[in-house]
Amino acid sequence: MDLAKSVGVINVNINSKKILIMSKTSRPIIETKSLGKKVSVADGDLSILSSVDLTINKGESIAIVGASGSGKSTLLGLLAGLDSPSEGIIKLDGEDLTALDEDGRADIRNKLVGFVFQSFQLMQRLSALENVMLPLELRGDQQAKKTATDLLSRVGLGHRLGHTPMKLSGGEQQRVALARAFVTQPAILFADEPTGNLDSKTGEQIIELLFELNQEKNTTLVLVTHDKVLASRCQRSVQIEAGQLV
Ligand SMILES: Nc1ncnc2c1ncn2[C@@H]1O[C@H](COP(=O)(O)OP(=O)(O)OP(=O)(O)O)[C@@H](O)[C@H]1O
Ligand SMILES: [Mg+2]
Repeated sequence: MDLAKSVGVINVNINSKKILIMSKTSRPIIETKSLGKKVSVADGDLSILSSVDLTINKGESIAIVGASGSGKSTLLGLLAGLDSPSEGIIKLDGEDLTALDEDGRADIRNKLVGFVFQSFQLMQRLSALENVMLPLELRGDQQAKKTATDLLSRVGLGHRLGHTPMKLSGGEQQRVALARAFVTQPAILFADEPTGNLDSKTGEQIIELLFELNQEKNTTLVLVTHDKVLASRCQRSVQIEAGQLV
């Protein structure tokens, strides 16, 4: 039996006949069609993403790779419903984001998405612990403090709970941002360069944590990365060049 892991399909050979069994993970959780993004600049429209057709199945892990400025962060923001496209459609778990207004998209994000920004975007006035508790508190979770404390310990920050982002190193802030994105156990975790600021040992620990989540909770991982170790752990990589998948 050979597991075609990228599509969640199991190939079984019975009497030399190849039979495909769709596994539970084979349902698309992200689908885009002809996705494009243009922005207005002084001398007209600038196309930063075009004709992106991408289907990602539930439970998959996928790396988005490409040169600086190729459109990776733009694509990630669109897939997560943080930004709206100029063309095309995006479906998250079957729901067409392009048919929704900002409130509608926010509901879907709350239900499905964890996001780690390239620039972290932590709340500067809140401590590490409060930053990670926040998404749980917004859900009325009574265990917010304990869950957030445990997760911060897991990313090696049990001794920095009370520090505000200004008092944390870049790698520490990155780990707080990861813990904040993990803490609600989202169905899809988007992370923009999640190991970009970490030394190799801490990076490896974070990679382990990401893939534990992927295995234990069937979390779909969509990762933008320049880190070859991280990309090679993903089931597949897609490359983006000048705003197009190649
Ligand atoms: N709002 C905007 N207005 C004008 N140009 C933009 C805007 N947002 C992004 N761009 C441009 O679009 C291109 C893609 O940006 P994006 O941030 O997606 O790149 P990236 O692949 O994530 O790069 P990096 O690896 O450096 O993070 C860049 O050239 C950027 O300057
Ligand atoms: Mg980027």
